[in-house]
Amino acid sequence: MKGIILAGGSGTRLSPLTKVTSKQLLPIYNKPMIYYPLETLMQGGITEILIITAPDRAGDFLRFLGSGKELGVKFTYEIQDNPEGLPQAFTIGENFIGDDSVALILGDNIFEDDFSEQIKAFKSGGQVFAKKVPDPERFGVIKFNEANVAEKIVEKPKEHLSDYAVTGLYLYDNRVVEAAKNLAKSARGEYEIVDLHNFYLHKGELTVSTVSGAWLDAGTFDSLLAANLLIAKREGSQVLL
Ligand code: DAU
Repeated sequence: MKGIILAGGSGTRLSPLTKVTSKQLLPIYNKPMIYYPLETLMQGGITEILIITAPDRAGDFLRFLGSGKELGVKFTYEIQDNPEGLPQAFTIGENFIGDDSVALILGDNIFEDDFSEQIKAFKSGGQVFAKKVPDPERFGVIKFNEANVAEKIVEKPKEHLSDYAVTGLYLYDNRVVEAAKNLAKSARGEYEIVDLHNFYLHKGELTVSTVSGAWLDAGTFDSLLAANLLIAKREGSQVLL
């Protein structure tokens, strides 16, 4: 399985912190943010990793991550010219993915869980990881039917569908590349990752697993602070409030 870390976008929600560097390179306690999703992929035994960045920030990532040799992995870099949605990771990454299956992780997602068993056991279809959250309207949300089976996944729903958000780690088989090419943009003008989840869900080939440990999408000032506190605690910092 190949790995992709999507680390593009303009990070406007975190401005002015993101004026001179990428959101995914901001510090989370003692390491840049991208280190954590990278660790999640490496724990799963993934050694070929594509880093997708915004055009003006690629040099910063290259300086931080280099070839990957020191970590025992191989990094490839691609540019996303315009942030038009997460599924572009699979079209930009088409050559890199080749005939393999792929794990996509968002560069601002920090997980406490170790997903190595699920990553190593993955065979085909799609697999997403859900977490019960107090603010599901910020995320892709799972709608369940009466039998408690996932029925569809909706991006930032206006009405309450459930408390289960789909986190930013996705495992897909190779069909995801063609599926991503065939997507149409949503009403908000983006290609939507939930359309790829639903592509597999409607075929009965989407596995929904749950995340038991902490999960943070460090895309807002509060979640960035929460991520710093979580990691500081894990690292045994004495400065905790
Ligand atoms: O964090 C999990 C959530 O991530 C999911 O529940 C949602 O279904 C999914 O759409 C996504 O929602 P966000 O609101 O967090 O998406 P956002 O636009 O903030 O993008 C997530 C990260 O991906 C962010 O670090 C920037 C990067 N990105 C985003 C887009 C749209 C790119 O690199 N390129 C892009 O085109």
